Amino acid sequence: MKTAAVTSGPKKVTTKVIGLMKEKGHRIACLTAYDFLTARFLDQAGIDLVLVGDSLANVFQGQETTLPVTLDEMIYHAKSVIRAIDRAMVIVDMPFMSYQVNDEEGFRNAGRVMKETGAGGVKFEGGERISNLVHMTVRAGIPVMGHLGLTPQSIHQFGSYTPRGSTPAEARQLLKDAKALEEAGAFGIVLEKIPAAVAKKISKSLTIPTIGIGAGPYCNGQILVVADMLGLYEDFHPRFVRQYANLAEVIRKSVRDYVKDVKDEKFPTEKESY
Ligand code: KIV
Repeated sequence: MKTAAVTSGPKKVTTKVIGLMKEKGHRIACLTAYDFLTARFLDQAGIDLVLVGDSLANVFQGQETTLPVTLDEMIYHAKSVIRAIDRAMVIVDMPFMSYQVNDEEGFRNAGRVMKETGAGGVKFEGGERISNLVHMTVRAGIPVMGHLGLTPQSIHQFGSYTPRGSTPAEARQLLKDAKALEEAGAFGIVLEKIPAAVAKKISKSLTIPTIGIGAGPYCNGQILVVADMLGLYEDFHPRFVRQYANLAEVIRKSVRDYVKDVKDEKFPTEKESY
């Protein structure tokens, strides 16, 4: 794999650019964001794709699962993120029950996200089961990203956050699901918490890119939850998260110092006053 980014420079990242990156063997770097300031840092630092993930239920709202976040809340966060972005592609997660009732409702809700936020596309969890919805949505001009493997919206059905696709039958089904999404017109697929060998086979079998999270090094791109990689979310330490900073400690220390300065009457000084 080459290391240079195909998208260096001010060019806007589109589904076409993302597809070309796979074709040229350039890795796709993705992170989640839920707010304006974080999204601006990610864009300034050269991220290719920002996902307004429904993981905001966990890391932003403090919920136990992703299920409670609503479509209106996703739209609110997506609008803040999109205001910050010049270059990256922004994809918005369709939250639980915004597309499960029937395809028409999912299609209409995807349209709402596009109209109200200015996002570059939406993400649905599921494979063969949602291929008709993906087809309808793509036909209307809305780019769709799929999500297979550990799909957190189905956590109550699975019962645990253990890896998926570990048996030959599960691995075969994952490949069928990935093919169904590609055929339905998805521009890319997130593969979450599946064996690296299974992710490699899927990535090689598809023309569209795979974006891995806990799916090993052979995917065409990688995504992490931004709060995990910055060391802000301390409740969860899966082995697939590489922590690039310890912002939780930086914040705690800064706040401790501020509290001490206020109490010791060291803040504000004359220079900090009018
Ligand atoms: O919601 C999310 O953050 C996601 C990523 C983990 C891929 O779906």
